[in-house]
Amino acid sequence: YIDPEFSTVVVSWQKQHGRHALPWQNTRDAYRIWLSEIMLQQTQVAAVIPYYQKFLISFPDVASLAGASAESVMSHWSGLGYYTRARNLHQCAKRVVAEHGGVFPSDPLLLAELPGIGRSTAAAISAFAYGTRAAILDGNVKRVFSRVFGVEGFPGSKPVEDQLWLRAEALLPQADFDVDSAIGSYTQGLMDLGATLCTRIRPDCARCPLAYRCVALATNRVHLLPVRKPK
Ligand code: ADE
Repeated sequence: YIDPEFSTVVVSWQKQHGRHALPWQNTRDAYRIWLSEIMLQQTQVAAVIPYYQKFLISFPDVASLAGASAESVMSHWSGLGYYTRARNLHQCAKRVVAEHGGVFPSDPLLLAELPGIGRSTAAAISAFAYGTRAAILDGNVKRVFSRVFGVEGFPGSKPVEDQLWLRAEALLPQADFDVDSAIGSYTQGLMDLGATLCTRIRPDCARCPLAYRCVALATNRVHLLPVRKPK
C-alpha cells in the first residue's frame, strides 16, 4: 500500500532534526559508506567513530584494504568485537577488487552477494552511495515499524520479518520524489528516528514526527512493542 506521507514526514524530520555530521555522512564514496555500515552493524556510533577514522588512515581505499595482511586488518579491528566482521570485510575488499574492478556495485542484489553484506546493509550502501531506491530493515527500523503500525508478532520470526520487509518496500519515497537526495535522507531518517527518539527504553514520543499516526502510542503499547522473543 502506497503511503507517500510516511516518507515525506521522515525526510523533512531528518533534514531538520536528524544527524548530519557523522564522519561517514556527506560522502558518496561507497568504500567509506560500506566500512561504516559494517562497523555499525553491531556497534554504537560513539564506539565506531575512532576506529573508522584510524582504519581510513591505514586503508584509504578498497585496493589498500584488499592488499593488506590479515594480521594488519585484525589489529585495526581489535577492540571493536564481532571479529567475523573483520574477516568478512577483508574478503569483501578482495572480491570487490577481483570481481568488480575495485568499484562497489550499485545494485543491492549484487552487494548482498558479498561477504558480510546482508539485505539491509546492501540497501543502505546502495542508497547512500548511489541514490538507489532500496529498503532497509535493521533492528532499529524493525522497532519503529512495529510501533508505528502496531505489529504484534515477534519481528525476528520469519513471517513477521517478511511482512515488515513488504512494508519497508511499500513505504519508500516514490521514484519521482526528489529523485536523488530523498532516498538518502529517508534511509538516514529511519535510522536516526530509531537511534535517537524511538529507542527501546525511554522513547521520546513528544518529539516524534510519527507520533500523530503511531498505533503503539495511541493504544498505550509503546513499551510493549516490538514484542520480545518468545521463550
Ligand atoms: N547505524 C547503521 N547505519 C548508520 C548510519 N548510516 N548512521 C548512523 N547510525 C547507523
